[in-house]
Amino acid sequence: MSQIVHGGLDRAELERLGLRPESVLDFSSNVNPFGPPEGVVAAVRNAVDAFHLASYPDPSCWALRRRLAQVHRVDPERILVGNGSADLIHLAMQVLAPGRRVAVLGPTFGEYAHAARRAGAVLLSVAWPGWALSPQGDFHPADTSLDQVRAELETARPHLVVLCNPNNPTGDLLTAEAFTHLRRALPHTCWLLDLAYAAFADTPVSAPLDSRTVVLHSLTKDFALAGLRLGYLVGPQALVERLRSAQPPWNVNGLAQVAGLAALDHLAWRARTLTRLRVECARLRGDLARMGWHPRKTATHFFLLPVGDPGELRARLLRGGLLVRDASSFGLSGFVRIAARQAADNARLLAGLAQERASAGRRAPSPPGRPTALPSGDHP
Ligand SMILES: Cc1ncc(COP(=O)(O)O)c(C=O)c1O
Repeated sequence: MSQIVHGGLDRAELERLGLRPESVLDFSSNVNPFGPPEGVVAAVRNAVDAFHLASYPDPSCWALRRRLAQVHRVDPERILVGNGSADLIHLAMQVLAPGRRVAVLGPTFGEYAHAARRAGAVLLSVAWPGWALSPQGDFHPADTSLDQVRAELETARPHLVVLCNPNNPTGDLLTAEAFTHLRRALPHTCWLLDLAYAAFADTPVSAPLDSRTVVLHSLTKDFALAGLRLGYLVGPQALVERLRSAQPPWNVNGLAQVAGLAALDHLAWRARTLTRLRVECARLRGDLARMGWHPRKTATHFFLLPVGDPGELRARLLRGGLLVRDASSFGLSGFVRIAARQAADNARLLAGLAQERASAGRRAPSPPGRPTALPSGDHP
């Protein structure tokens, strides 16, 4: 089964291009560019000693679960920590999906479908409101309503629905009311709700803590711990117990547990930096629109940008040390996904894209693409 394409630096590609990883500005992964917080780095540094390196990590992540339980106001037994939330997506599918109908609302993060297929699920792809699915399996913007999505889910009768909110790569957000409306149509269906980007959203994103919902959280995006790997889920206790018994032992390394505990002392840092990031994202989208590009609206810090040839644009920008995400692997043609960074970095991207426009004008005209049926209100 083929691997899913992700954003982030591809070390082999950079080596071929003669680029050092540290010299590339990464707009292709959605990690908080202000992080990790200094206090978290210091906590990890303090734990790099012979004792911590030689000891097995706590297989139950007890201290971290107890602290997470306080944050979420739930019993620690309802929490399971994983080696990044991608690890938990695969674990949840291995336990919940074999032989079952799993609906994934797309376009979205590729690991859900990959994990469902690996687990032997019957995979059903359903388009998000505002998107449509072609017979070839590609998504394009459309005026699909919430009720159409609800009707499609009712017809599909899935055992499990996967929803990423706010959604990667579109930045779309489903309101609590809209989510409730969908859930009411499927009273016995389980939901895997991925809130990896909830802290980045411009409005609060809530999740029901009931007997048919598993809520996934990642600490690698908002706290910038992608290299260390840390995620967790909150779910009904009996299911969490089943998931725990299917998890390999010592799955979460000791330094990641130290980092997670320290990160939870930095919730104010997270709120502060993500507020700044939303401002930078709005500024970047505004500047792009003024340059004649058509960034799509977003509820978070990343957005889709319609372009003529995303693979070509990505390759050309990368030669100049700027990495954007070709969104083709999400089943979207004609888009790159850009995650906003700090102001100076965004200015470099704008300069790179201005150069692109100028050189595209000199080559055969290949102006920034504008996909068909772009819904109104798509400008910053
Ligand atoms: C929506 C979503 N969920 C989960 C993940 C996995 O994150 P991690 O395993 O780093 O926690 C990603 C990574 O890009 C993502 O975009």
